[in-house]
Amino acid sequence: MPKKVYIETYGCQMNVVDSEVVVSILSGAGYVPTDNIGDAGLILINTCSIRDNAEQRIWGRLKAISHLKKRKHDVKIGIIGCMAERLKEKLIETDKLVDIVVGPDAYRELPLLVAEAEAGHKAVNVLLSREETYADISPVRMDKNGVSSFVSIMRGCNNMCAYCVVPYVRGAERSRNPESILKEVKDLYELGYREVTLLGQNVDSYKWDSNIETTGFPELLEKVAMINPLLRVRFSTSHPKDISDDLLHTISRYENICKHIHLPAQSGSSRILKLMNREYSREWYMDRVNTIRTIIPDCALSTDMITGFCTETKEDHKESLSLMDWAGFDFAYMFKYSERPGTKAARKYKDDVAENIKSERLSEMISLQNKLSAQAKKNDVGKVYEVLIEGFSKRSDEYLSGRTSRNKVVVFPGGGLKKGNYVKVLIERCTSATLIGKSI
Ligand code: SAH
Ligand code: SF4
Ligand code: F3S
Repeated sequence: MPKKVYIETYGCQMNVVDSEVVVSILSGAGYVPTDNIGDAGLILINTCSIRDNAEQRIWGRLKAISHLKKRKHDVKIGIIGCMAERLKEKLIETDKLVDIVVGPDAYRELPLLVAEAEAGHKAVNVLLSREETYADISPVRMDKNGVSSFVSIMRGCNNMCAYCVVPYVRGAERSRNPESILKEVKDLYELGYREVTLLGQNVDSYKWDSNIETTGFPELLEKVAMINPLLRVRFSTSHPKDISDDLLHTISRYENICKHIHLPAQSGSSRILKLMNREYSREWYMDRVNTIRTIIPDCALSTDMITGFCTETKEDHKESLSLMDWAGFDFAYMFKYSERPGTKAARKYKDDVAENIKSERLSEMISLQNKLSAQAKKNDVGKVYEVLIEGFSKRSDEYLSGRTSRNKVVVFPGGGLKKGNYVKVLIERCTSATLIGKSI
């Protein structure tokens, strides 16, 4: 009987890919993945530390699965990823059920650490690395649709946004060899995938020096786009201080590079942006958006916003709202500021915006964004978009679901069409989350 591993993933897309890398590494040690937690001899939770509530969820989850271990004593529980890196041995001290703690750069050691745990010892490795990119490991794809997938192009982050825990839990920025990236993408295409999203905390600073040439992000993106015109390419995340005109021209030159940029603003107030150490101002951000609109006129834009950062006043908050309104974002992720121990903001500033004010500002932001998103969808009604079919719609098997290059979900009746196909769809109406149309 092969040993079974159950892996649960929290946090961002990086963690999703990391879990696939982990399954690949463990399969070399005789483990097969299972979807049934009750069957598993090894339970891994790939964790996120970005906000306090992300960590609270993990603690809750650990409590919820404790009965499995009480029932079957030889089950091993491992905490891996960002929260493992942040809390280290403290995780085992706090929760005796945890056997294994492994940080994001130590996954190659997992077979050894699991063996140690099986021998009855607690096993910890949270060493960060300057080189590790898992370039040579083929992730075991666990997505269910087989059409779109994520490819990690770099790890870590060298920016020091004052609020952010990522540089501490993911280590220094390092780029992955472009040859290995291109090979992974080609393999995905051969397997039938029709969309890849290139992932990094700040893709604009991707850089690889070989003896012959230097590959920056625009060059990498171009090479990926040239693999096949039927392969859509997306990327995330861009940093407003680094996104270059060169990159924008590359996006506009290739039909298969999706016309959508996720450009986290975080705040609309230059004073707050400075405190956040984002290294750009409101005006700089607006200039970048104007340039995007000039070079790629039909580009969709989305953003991340933090509300209630240290010292944020009503006026600062209004500036965030007015920036969102001005940019007319198609989509936004919005968060209440959550102080993370060890970050610059935690060390130097007071978390002085009251919780109820944070909540109030967040709901104001969300209702504004709801209006903007609805408007963006209404603007699409009557137009024809090429849709990459991802599968059946959630509601009914008579409808197919896919996305436009601008990253909007489209649902339409789909006789004879299959996932992975491209189809032109006339948008006839929209709901708050979806565009609805018919194929033409
Ligand atoms: N590297 C990306 C994303 C990092 S994490 C970038 O720079 O944009 C994703 C988002 O979480 C961030 O964009 C930010 O909006 C949010 N975030 C990060 N730290 C946070 C904190 N301490 N409190 C609230 N939101 C936070
Ligand atoms: Fe965090 Fe800033 Fe790096 Fe993004 S760019 S991961 S927000 S430090
Ligand atoms: Fe969370 Fe780590 Fe991603 S902290 S957002 S899982 S890089």
